[in-house]
Amino acid sequence: GKTHHRTFVVKSSPYTRLCSTKNILTVNGKFPGPTLKVHRGDKLIINFYNKAEYNITLHWHGVRQLRNPWSDGAEYINQCPIRPGNNFTYNIQFTTEEGTIWWHAHSGWARATLHGLIIVYPKLGTAYPFPKPYAELPIILGEWWKKNVMDIPGNANKTGGEPILSDAYTINGQPGDLYPCSKQETFRIKVKQGKTYLLRIVSAVMDENLFFSIAKHKLTLVGTDGFYTKPFQTNYIMITPGQSMDVLLETNQPPNHQYYMAARAYVSAFGAGFDRTTTTGIIQYQNTHNHNSSSSPLIPELPLYNATRASAEFTRRLRSLVTKEYPIEVPPKVDTHLFFTVSINLVNCTGKPCRGPFGKRFSASMNNISFVYPSIDILGAYYYGINGVFGRNFPENPPKMYDYTGKNLPENLLTPEFGTRALVLEYNASVELILQGTNVLASDNHPVHLHGYGFYVVGWGFGNFDPKKDPLGYNLVDPPRETTVGIPDNGWVAIRFRADNPGVWLLHCHLERHQSWGMSTVIVVKDGATPETKILPPPDDVPKC
Ligand code: C2O
Ligand code: CU
Repeated sequence: GKTHHRTFVVKSSPYTRLCSTKNILTVNGKFPGPTLKVHRGDKLIINFYNKAEYNITLHWHGVRQLRNPWSDGAEYINQCPIRPGNNFTYNIQFTTEEGTIWWHAHSGWARATLHGLIIVYPKLGTAYPFPKPYAELPIILGEWWKKNVMDIPGNANKTGGEPILSDAYTINGQPGDLYPCSKQETFRIKVKQGKTYLLRIVSAVMDENLFFSIAKHKLTLVGTDGFYTKPFQTNYIMITPGQSMDVLLETNQPPNHQYYMAARAYVSAFGAGFDRTTTTGIIQYQNTHNHNSSSSPLIPELPLYNATRASAEFTRRLRSLVTKEYPIEVPPKVDTHLFFTVSINLVNCTGKPCRGPFGKRFSASMNNISFVYPSIDILGAYYYGINGVFGRNFPENPPKMYDYTGKNLPENLLTPEFGTRALVLEYNASVELILQGTNVLASDNHPVHLHGYGFYVVGWGFGNFDPKKDPLGYNLVDPPRETTVGIPDNGWVAIRFRADNPGVWLLHCHLERHQSWGMSTVIVVKDGATPETKILPPPDDVPKC
């Protein structure tokens, strides 16, 4: 493979959206940030300079970072933050994933504007497992706040209140023509009739799952999170924060119309408020006498906000491609069974201000532990054997007597413990992890992301996981491989992976408000016995906290 060098300078730049101008964090002055293009097998070296007034780290979401947790970028997990005026070099190797993934800041809410695409093309000399598309179209779904996004978590972290809702969703950084002052800049693309385009879709959205569709056009899904899928046709996709999808679009419709693409929220639970607006972009056909160019674009049909069935029908169709070139490696036998509950909680306020309901504050937890970020990075503490930074006693199983429906819970189970604990796995363990959503306070669909791994989603369902019945329905033949999986509302997901990437890896909900409340934990995978199965040595420029 080739080695690419890029320079990323994080700085504030003025951007105007929704009738007002503010300074936002950008990479090289761009929003959304630059697209990185590599082939599988390549290396990428990013020289990162922090010229902003905040601490920043960058994460390469969906890159396996084999044996190299030093460049994974989760703040206080893999490294200390890069302080204003400092720099750091990220070393990224593309060993496993292929397709569309992305990068984003991993510091507070900075990822709202600090994000961009990573396109991993097939290894040089090899081809896509589908006919070569005529062209590719990047589609980054995002969210825009009129306020400074760096001030938003303050409300959630410090007061336990609900974070402020966004003012718009965006397509490639633009809200689109349904929002005020946004018509001129609506994202537009011109396509040729009779071609196949590859849409490279990423959800950089902070707090909501989205439905996305294009008027009159079918979408063919061919990949998720950097892994190819068995192609299937659909009218819409459901994409969670953190996920990416490769989608083929055939331009086979009458060229004398314009067609909207649109996205809006999918929320399973109506309890919490959510941004109910719709973002749009426009597809136009080239070189046609556009008689109707003044008429408005055709509108796509999007499932309703609470269309859990539409979401489930889409998700149920995801399957790994499975060919000789793209085999799967689902551990057939499991030696390490893990079961984590994923919950929103209410806890007593200690001190003011306190902005949650009933005089309490929101928090969030896994197995009843609400994650507290340490003051030096866990990877450094683990590697150098520094005690007192994190505990190795994350519970492998939920607290006893746990009632997933949230009914009849004793007070001590309603209230999580705060702590910085990691789960330690042996090298090469065959792991099954059940993620069980609970309704302790409210139900929600949690998109859970694991760093350092592409896991197989072997099963999922609604209600409580049944350890006798549910494993009988597992798909061990062609389960989809993902790095972010949505736990359905009040339901469960079963994932499997082999712990063959030593290091320190964050596992967290990719809804930013839940992460701000503590819905995270850390998985430490020990070194193997041979030199090729150990963590690489740290780089020279590791920052200090
Ligand atoms: Cu997309 Cu921990 O992140
Ligand atoms: Cu969540």
